Amino acid sequence: MTRLLVVSNRVSPPVGEGKANQGGLAVALNSALRETNGIWFGWSGNEIDQFSGQINFSRNDGVTTATVDLEAQDVEEYYNGFANRTLWPLFHDRIDLAEFERGFAGGYERVNARFAETMLPLIAPDDLIWVHDYHLIPLGSELRQRGVGNRIGFFLHTPWPVLRLLLSLPHHRQLVEALFDYDLLGFQCNAWRDGFLEYVRDQFPDAEMQDDGTIRIGGRSVRVIACPIGIDAQDFMESAASPEAETARQEMIKSLDGKCLIIGVDRLDYSKGLEHRFHGYERLLTDQPHYQEKVSLLQIAPPSRADVASYQDIRKGLDALSGHINGEFATVHWVPLRYVNRGYDRTSLAGMFRASRVGLVTPLRDGMNLVAKEYVAAQDPDDPGVLILSKFAGAAEQLKQALLVNPYSPEELSDALAQALDMGLEERRARHAALLESVQREDVHWWLRTFLDALEDHGAEVISLDQSRGGGNHGGIPQIHQSLAAPSFA
Ligand code: ADP
Ligand code: F6P
Repeated sequence: MTRLLVVSNRVSPPVGEGKANQGGLAVALNSALRETNGIWFGWSGNEIDQFSGQINFSRNDGVTTATVDLEAQDVEEYYNGFANRTLWPLFHDRIDLAEFERGFAGGYERVNARFAETMLPLIAPDDLIWVHDYHLIPLGSELRQRGVGNRIGFFLHTPWPVLRLLLSLPHHRQLVEALFDYDLLGFQCNAWRDGFLEYVRDQFPDAEMQDDGTIRIGGRSVRVIACPIGIDAQDFMESAASPEAETARQEMIKSLDGKCLIIGVDRLDYSKGLEHRFHGYERLLTDQPHYQEKVSLLQIAPPSRADVASYQDIRKGLDALSGHINGEFATVHWVPLRYVNRGYDRTSLAGMFRASRVGLVTPLRDGMNLVAKEYVAAQDPDDPGVLILSKFAGAAEQLKQALLVNPYSPEELSDALAQALDMGLEERRARHAALLESVQREDVHWWLRTFLDALEDHGAEVISLDQSRGGGNHGGIPQIHQSLAAPSFA
């Protein structure tokens, strides 16, 4: 198999280093990298005074990670700035939170150029390069400008923004044009892929769209697919059935003192709909008071991107709202809402999921949402909990047997909670079996294979296109293709 070079903003340590918060992506990419003797390149998470481009290598369990430190200004403008203050809110329908500052865009360009320059020596002629997420949209273009002719794929883990919102981004065309320098673009679901194609039709009327999702534009060719990321279902199911998870489950059940557990596990992010979720729960307790002292909502929400003001605001808002709900409904024997700002290891999470009657996954907008799939995989098939899932999560296209809700409506949330709490065993089993089948069939290994097969398949065509436009592997005849000017968002 061709060697894989993965690039993402954050680089996860290989499995086995004992880190608590590894998600499905880290597990899957680690196994793909191990199979291909590949490299994972990205930001170390550290700041230094002056960018040096020095790569720190680490090798563990067959996976090489290669990381660089960034300057404080880079982190501020690229990560906290353009990625998380401009693109993230825009891509999650929160234009009210989006900040448009030239300095951010300049930092984004600079860091993408620095990544490209720094990783050049790591690229071997036949490597497949796979770039991840909104932090690194222009990276493919930066690599092409440096003569890299390898097959390069890009996967977006967030939603694709609504057309009219994306049009509000200064230099939005250059940002999208940079995507045309990839060979393959992957989106989490049909809705995000179709949104991208709609933008291209609107803004690039000369683009030729083919039935297989290939776009031909200005002598370039890029294939666009929907390819939903999955979890390592087998691994998660085994974790959930392990003695450690069983201990976590039993401890949780003991602490519930006979109450039914409703659980939510999310990064503390405004896109996750936590305030709306709390209002939906409050509505249940208000409108259907017979549930009081019968249920308990556990919301686990570790803080995220704490340097960004909108994240500080959502944290303050949730602190106040959770205090308000407990103040209103708690009794000396019952705390209706347990709100916890910390991370847990995956096995404990699996045990807690298994102890619950209801899983609440209600983002206002979400690229995929792996927690929804983890919740399903963690359940005991003989006595499963019920998944309540937002219609606006990418996962809703696959997990149709969940109770699908509009997360903005406290009434709908409250009704779905009541329906889930009252659901009979037969219906719970039937819904769970169908959900589990989907989670197992389209798991993370399926996702990897689907994306990488498409990237490899496209190779022959891409190579000929690259030759025709004067590209080529920088390891062979170093030619820099001129088809795109350096994207400039500043
Ligand atoms: P996002 O990528 O936006 O954070 P996802 O739901 O797709 O959302 O992925 C989140 C991942 O982080 C999941 O694998 C989930 O289990 C993990 N996670 C979320 N909250 C916690 C927590 N409190 N402790 C440990 N892991 C967590
Ligand atoms: O899934 C979206 C995403 O931004 C990933 O790229 C990222 O690893 C995760 O959420 C957590 O965000 P951050 O790396 O900013 O903590």
